[in-house]
Amino acid sequence: MMLFVWLKMAHVSSALLSISGFALRGYWMLTDNPLLQRRLTRVLPHIVDTLLLGSAIAMLFVWQADPLQLPWLIAKIVGLLLYIGLGMVALRFGKTQRQRATAFALALLTAAYILSVAYSKSPLGFLVS
Ligand code: HEM
Repeated sequence: MMLFVWLKMAHVSSALLSISGFALRGYWMLTDNPLLQRRLTRVLPHIVDTLLLGSAIAMLFVWQADPLQLPWLIAKIVGLLLYIGLGMVALRFGKTQRQRATAFALALLTAAYILSVAYSKSPLGFLVS
């Protein structure tokens, strides 16, 4: 199905962009780089993440799939919420540099977990293989 292929391409590209963009912003946070406060730095992630989630929802729509019936999709949603929460602590709400750095490292670990779930189609992801 052609539409699905396009949606998946958009999903995979925005997923990689989202994670590499977050890694870059985290690095800027750790090094006190003023680029972190730029308007583009703050707006672009929202556009990329909307594309990421929008393409995911559209794929489920094309599939007529209920994400709550597929354990690996539940794992991705939970992983995504965790990734967002940790990212917010890392880039905004962390009080000390140590808190921010820890949240940043855990967010990257969570992103790796989500990717491993995406490719293995198993909620355990890299925890097993
Ligand atoms: C940070 C969040 C996410 C990342 C990094 C991510 C990453 C990926 C990647 C790399 C693939 C391609 C896997 C492959 O080639 O087989 C994929 C596929 C997919 N993802 Fe995501 N994803 C994320 C969030 C989500 C969410 C929240 C949902 C839906 C609830 C979702 C639904 C899907 C679906 C339906 C596929 C297609 C699977 C297939 O073709 O068999 N993703 N994701």
